[in-house]
Amino acid sequence: MLRKRVPDVTFRTRVRDESIEGPNPYRWENKTTADYFSGKRVVLFSLPGAFTPTCSNYQLPDFEKLHDEFKAEGIDEIYCISVNDAFVMNAWARHQGIEKIKFIPDGSGEFTRKMGMLVAKDNLGFGMRSWRYAAVVNDGMIEQWFEEEGFADNCETDPYGVSSPQNILENLRARESAAA
Ligand code: BEZ
Repeated sequence: MLRKRVPDVTFRTRVRDESIEGPNPYRWENKTTADYFSGKRVVLFSLPGAFTPTCSNYQLPDFEKLHDEFKAEGIDEIYCISVNDAFVMNAWARHQGIEKIKFIPDGSGEFTRKMGMLVAKDNLGFGMRSWRYAAVVNDGMIEQWFEEEGFADNCETDPYGVSSPQNILENLRARESAAA
């Protein structure tokens, strides 16, 4: 059964700090589920890995392009989460030139596990990663759920469609017109 509230977790992020000298002016900063989700209506999308092709060529850049359209539908933030550490997530964001989407590093997989979305990807040498899904989360409560079909360990394919930004936006718009 779909859980209703996102789990309470502390994420280990790396933030830029200009007061730090040297080639790596970043420090650790703990961020909690409440920091990301309290008092906001957000889209969270979770993917199998930073730098992987579908995520880098379609899902992430398309969310970035459509960010302002999500805003117009009452979404305050869009979060990309992956079972990758903060160094990897920051490097991926920089590499992709992302400015509007925020990244949540779930390096230990705790959030993903508590969401029930952790799968083995040992067939790819990845270890435990996230199944691809997205959700509209309102003040920590899951309002809409978009999970790719075929949830499984060591899945030979990488289904992508339900959790695409285009599909989520279409659902948000349909709900809004139905409510009008
Ligand atoms: C992809 O995004 O294309 C991908 C994701 C996980 C494993 C392999 C590829």
